[in-house]
Amino acid sequence: MNKKLSKSPGAIGVFDSGYGGLTILNQIKQEMPEYDYIYLGDNARTPYGTRSFEIVYEFTLQAVNKLFEMGCHLVILACNTASAKALRSIQINDLPGIDPNRRVLGVIRPTVESIGNITHSRHVGVLATSGTIISESYPLEIHKLHPDIIVSGEPCPMWVPLVENNEYNSPGADYFVKQHIDNLLKKDSEIDTIILGCTHYPLLLPKIEKYLPAGITVISQGEYVAASLKSYLKRHPEMDKLCTKNSICKFLTTESEIKFSESASTFLNTEISVERFVIE
Ligand code: DGL
Repeated sequence: MNKKLSKSPGAIGVFDSGYGGLTILNQIKQEMPEYDYIYLGDNARTPYGTRSFEIVYEFTLQAVNKLFEMGCHLVILACNTASAKALRSIQINDLPGIDPNRRVLGVIRPTVESIGNITHSRHVGVLATSGTIISESYPLEIHKLHPDIIVSGEPCPMWVPLVENNEYNSPGADYFVKQHIDNLLKKDSEIDTIILGCTHYPLLLPKIEKYLPAGITVISQGEYVAASLKSYLKRHPEMDKLCTKNSICKFLTTESEIKFSESASTFLNTEISVERFVIE
């Protein structure tokens, strides 16, 4: 048990390797504006998607511990790569020793729960980082709930760097977006539903839609994660009591705060103030 942790209520922690989790935070804030949030982006060490299991787990656990030390009782991993590679180990092996009453939740399960009623062909595609695709988390989770769905995955290693470097509207992005959509549809031409299995990808949505044939539904995760969190807090009033509600949102980055606030404003459509944060 970590003795440094306060028992007083605190903000909900939202973590991502960089800016991508802001697409999730945006939706959560829309759904639950009364809560307080601390967003932590590990921009100095992004991307996670090409890193090993061990490193993603180590970095994610460091971030979760920092958010707990800042008073959070509940942390959302707003990152598929961290959800795929670190969530279960943290839940099963680390939380009991840190504080069995704290919770860490991911973004894959709420997304997977949504697709059963959306796909008619029962052929689903997943666009995600190499790490998420290699982990097989999407097919494994989908088959637990919907064993009949055929899942094809396509890793898109250039997409996170395009977003992190503010190139997602550039003509160069078209090349990489088209390439991966074509690859995915070559794997299975009956796909009628595509999951954007990386929280950075909603920024590329206009380009993704440009290269997709008509009739394919694209799923961005934000609304499903927000709805699932709301329902979780309703079902767990003991956790809800530990989440403060003053509508305050704090932003932390492991990179330069100036760089973060410039880029984050394009995600959030508003000016924000940011603090630099050192994770050791
Ligand atoms: N937003 C993260 C995800 O959802 C991006 C991972 C990365 O840093 O490569 O997977």
